[in-house]
Amino acid sequence: MSENPPSEALENLLHENRKFPPSPEFAAHAVAQPELYQEAQQDRLAFWAKQSRELLSWSKDFEQTLDWSDAPFAKWFVGGEINAAYNALDRHVEAGIGDRVAIYWEGEPGDSRQISYAQLTEEVKKAANAFEALGVAKGDRVAIYLPMIPEAVISMLACARIGAIHSVVFGGFSADALRNRIDDAEAKLVVTADGTYRRGAPSSLKPAVDEALVAPGHTVNHVVVVKRNGEPVAWTEGRDLWWSETVETADPEHTAVPHDSEHPLFILYTSGTTGKPKGILHSTGGYLTQTAYSHKNVFDLRPETDVYWCAADIGWVTGHSYIAYSPLVNGASMVMYEGTPDTPHQGRWWEIVQKYKVSILYAAPTAIRTFMKWGREIPDQYDLSSLKLLGSVGEPINPEAWMWYREVIGGGRTPIVDTWWQTETGGMMISPLPGVTATKPGSAQVPLPGIEVDVVDDLGVSVENGQGGYLVVKSPWPSMLRGIWGDPERYKNTYWSRFDGMYFAGDGAKKDEDGDIWLLGRVDDVMNVSGHRLSTTEIESALVSHESVAEAAVVGAADETTGQAVVAFVILRGSAVDDPEIEQTLRNHVGKEIGPIAKPKRILVVPELPKTRSGKIMRRLLKDIAEGREAGDATTLADAGIMQLISESLKK
Ligand code: WT7
Repeated sequence: MSENPPSEALENLLHENRKFPPSPEFAAHAVAQPELYQEAQQDRLAFWAKQSRELLSWSKDFEQTLDWSDAPFAKWFVGGEINAAYNALDRHVEAGIGDRVAIYWEGEPGDSRQISYAQLTEEVKKAANAFEALGVAKGDRVAIYLPMIPEAVISMLACARIGAIHSVVFGGFSADALRNRIDDAEAKLVVTADGTYRRGAPSSLKPAVDEALVAPGHTVNHVVVVKRNGEPVAWTEGRDLWWSETVETADPEHTAVPHDSEHPLFILYTSGTTGKPKGILHSTGGYLTQTAYSHKNVFDLRPETDVYWCAADIGWVTGHSYIAYSPLVNGASMVMYEGTPDTPHQGRWWEIVQKYKVSILYAAPTAIRTFMKWGREIPDQYDLSSLKLLGSVGEPINPEAWMWYREVIGGGRTPIVDTWWQTETGGMMISPLPGVTATKPGSAQVPLPGIEVDVVDDLGVSVENGQGGYLVVKSPWPSMLRGIWGDPERYKNTYWSRFDGMYFAGDGAKKDEDGDIWLLGRVDDVMNVSGHRLSTTEIESALVSHESVAEAAVVGAADETTGQAVVAFVILRGSAVDDPEIEQTLRNHVGKEIGPIAKPKRILVVPELPKTRSGKIMRRLLKDIAEGREAGDATTLADAGIMQLISESLKK
């Protein structure tokens, strides 16, 4: 931990005191009832056991709700057996709602597909058979590198069905990043596509897979390729197979076998404070329980009538928990959109809301701020009256964006639910309950019933109302990560060693006078750019891996649209100092090493970096510079003159 909770943000938020109580009409019919809080408080474990049995179909009932004897390694719903794909699919068909639309898919060029629960079930059964025929067995890892097309969900559920562990790699990651993830998980199979569409043009994926697999020593036997944009692709005979020839031709009958409640469901890599991404591991029963529970209560879900749209990418945890799993487990109809919000025009999202009569929209603050910038005239041209609830996720939502979302998109009528959670938490942890909680612009406010979070000081002591500190979770929760793939020690050190017996989330937070929680951003070396989690160290390693860079320090600087922007300070080697192209070269290099999302917005060439006596880079001071402030307290610097030197070099 290198920084304190951002005090400036705290100051600003202290002046926010607007409050929106639920409308009586909404409250009268709300799915979530206030009694949930009391029930959970009376007996937390009994509460979760009841939720789990109500929301899921267990093939074999569990005997024990929580086994925490090997803390911090949790086991939930011990002894139970369940199949995630059966819960998301077959059981709905058996219950007679097979004709309900599961996915309204909208391609970027304007093509669309409607897939019913019966059809989706059949597709997943075929994929399960096909993957098994390719030698994928229970416990094997499958890397999924796909755009936002239904085959992404189909592949994930097919893995879950046969007990294979999926590792979805965001399509924006580079070949190198993909290879690292394939290697770490020792994936046997890769599922990809020729490509997708981005801003009206074909954008390729398969070449990155080919590049990732050039160097020998990997574990991949087969690559299954979905044809999406029809662009020509290179082909490795014996390894590469078309989806249309392997999955679509497979047997549509497949019986889902139950897996242990703790059987691993997926690995999802996320950035931490060190260079190497962490493979966050989730298991089955607890994950499905908490995601289904939160999806139902936080979104006020009525699966018979709602049209739900989560605008995240399947490559992030939001796309796992609130696209691939919970909406389907809950039998909802959802929209899935392939492309960017401004293609072919800046009203695309609102056109989609109008077309499908979307009632629940779940989006990131960075998107909302972008729409604000484009102007309300754009959404105002569409009929958005179908919307009844709006959700926010991924980063703190500033009160202005919250108000705009509610007024312009929600017509001043829709509750806003600001949901705080993480890849590690698997499902939502802090959020208002619509119809119950009086909401405050900019605050995620209260832990969900059944969840125990707190804000503590440096010593782990709960802070008074009105004070700031670190966000912690005080007792295990069903969808918590079960560890870091292949690295149990790192799991303990990262999350459970900072405060005794508490999960350390890495976020700064504040309790207001009512005890409501306001999130203040990361307190560690993790950045949040457009809701994408990036590690300063990871980008620094990428920079110094370039021959022209001697040293690098990366900070996340406040940015109006993206929340934070990557700003890199580099010390160059030799002749690179005179290279006018060096910034562009380095930006591209980071793009190649990690992916375009990690490219620094600015690269500042400096003669030195500020370091403490123990050699730790003081990013706080660099952040001051990147955000255009006078550098703060520099008394712990090994060399007091450095900041002056840096400032002068940047003026040139
Ligand atoms: C980090 C987790 C949750 C899925 C997407 C991101 C930040 C997330 C909020 C929110 C304030 C938020 C935190 C957290 N964050 N939601 N509602 N208010 N901050 O998952 O990539 O694992 O990132 O995102 O800093 O630690 P992730």
